Amino acid sequence: MKNIIISVGARPNFMKVAPLLRLLDKSKLYKPILVHTGQHYDDEMSDIFFKELNMRQPDYNLKVGSDSHAKQTAKMMVSFEEVCYNTSPDMVIVVGDVNSTLACSVVAKKLNIKVAHIEAGLRSYDREMPEEINRIITDSISDYFFVTEESGEKNLIKEGHDKNKIFLVGNLMIDSLHYGLDKIKTKKMYSNDEYGLITLHRPSNVDNIEKFKDILGALSEISNQIKLFFSVHPRTQKKIKEHKIVFSKNIQILEPLPYLSFLHLMRDSKVIFTDSGGIQDESTPMKIPCYTLRKNTERPVTIEYGTNRLVVPNKKNILDVFNTHKFTINSNYQLPFGWDGNTSKRIIDILDRI
Ligand code: UD1
Repeated sequence: MKNIIISVGARPNFMKVAPLLRLLDKSKLYKPILVHTGQHYDDEMSDIFFKELNMRQPDYNLKVGSDSHAKQTAKMMVSFEEVCYNTSPDMVIVVGDVNSTLACSVVAKKLNIKVAHIEAGLRSYDREMPEEINRIITDSISDYFFVTEESGEKNLIKEGHDKNKIFLVGNLMIDSLHYGLDKIKTKKMYSNDEYGLITLHRPSNVDNIEKFKDILGALSEISNQIKLFFSVHPRTQKKIKEHKIVFSKNIQILEPLPYLSFLHLMRDSKVIFTDSGGIQDESTPMKIPCYTLRKNTERPVTIEYGTNRLVVPNKKNILDVFNTHKFTINSNYQLPFGWDGNTSKRIIDILDRI
C-alpha cells in the first residue's frame, strides 16, 4: 500500500480534494493521509465545507492560522516537515495555488518525496499575484502535473517539463459541482426576483480602498438593473468595516456562505461579478455569464469557450463591458475537455500506473 499525503489549507482547496479523497479512501492500493494546514480555520471558511462535501476529518491539522505570507508559509513548512517524518509518504498531492500548496510541495521535495500538483500549469503571467508565485514555484519542483485545461499543458511544456509527466485530466472542482448540484435539487429559491451575485477578495481589488470603492460604484449602478447578492470574504469584510462602507439598497450583503448554499445562490443567479479563480471555472458548466474583475486570468479556456469575460476593474470599464453583453454568453460556448464530473476517476487511473 502506498502512503499518499493529500494536503489542503484554504477554502478553494476543499472542493478539489473531496472527490479524490473519497475514491482514494475506498481503494486498497493507497493509504491516504489528509493534512489540513489550517490556513483557513473559521467554521464558515473551513469546517462547514468538510461537512457539506462529506469529507472525513483530517489526520493532521497544523492549525497555522492567519499571518503574513512569510510567517504563515514558514509555520506550515515547519509543521508539515514533522508530518512527513512521522508518516514517510511515497507521494504528496497538492492542489491549486494557495500558500499551503507552496509550503507543502517545497517541504516534500526537499525530503525527496514525489510531488503531484493538481491544477498545474495555470499562469496569469502576473507576478504581483501571490498565487502566481505559488504556481510557478510548485510547478518548478513537482514530479507529476494534473492539468485542467490545454493552456496548462502548453505552459508546462514551454517551461521545459517532460510531456510524459503532464496529464490533461479535466477539472476536479467540477466533480464537486456535480455532487453539490445533486444535493440542492429540491431546495427553495433564494429570492423571488431575478438576481446577480458578487464575490471580491483579491488584495488587488479590495486592499486599496479607492479602487474598491470605484468597483463598488459600478456594481451599485448595475444594481439598479438587477438585484445583487454580495457574499463577503473575511478580508473584504475587514475593509468594509474599517471604511464604514454603505451599500445601495439593491445590494444585499451575505456572510461567506457554506458550499451548498453558495452553489444554490450561484445556480439561480443571472450574472456573476467576481475575482475568484474557482467561480470562473464553475460558472462555465452552469452557463452563467461571469464578469471577472481582473486584468488577467490564469484560466483562458473559460474565456475562449466558457461563459467568462475579463474586465479591467474600474468603474467605467465594468459598466461599458456589462452594458455591451448584459446577460448573454459566448456564442462559441463549449464545455472544456474533462469538465464532466469524472476527473477524480481519471486521476486515480493515472496514479495506479505511475
Ligand atoms: C487565500 C488564497 C487565495 C484564495 C482565497 C480563498 C493565498 C495566497 N491566497 O486568500 O488564493 O482565493 O484564500 O478564500 O493563499 N481569515 C479569516 N478566517 C479564515 C481565513 C482567513 O478571518 O478562516 C481572514 C484573516 O484575517 C486573514 C484574511 O482573511 O488575514 C486573509 O486570509 P489568507 O488565507 O491570508 O488569504 P485569503 O485572502 O483568504
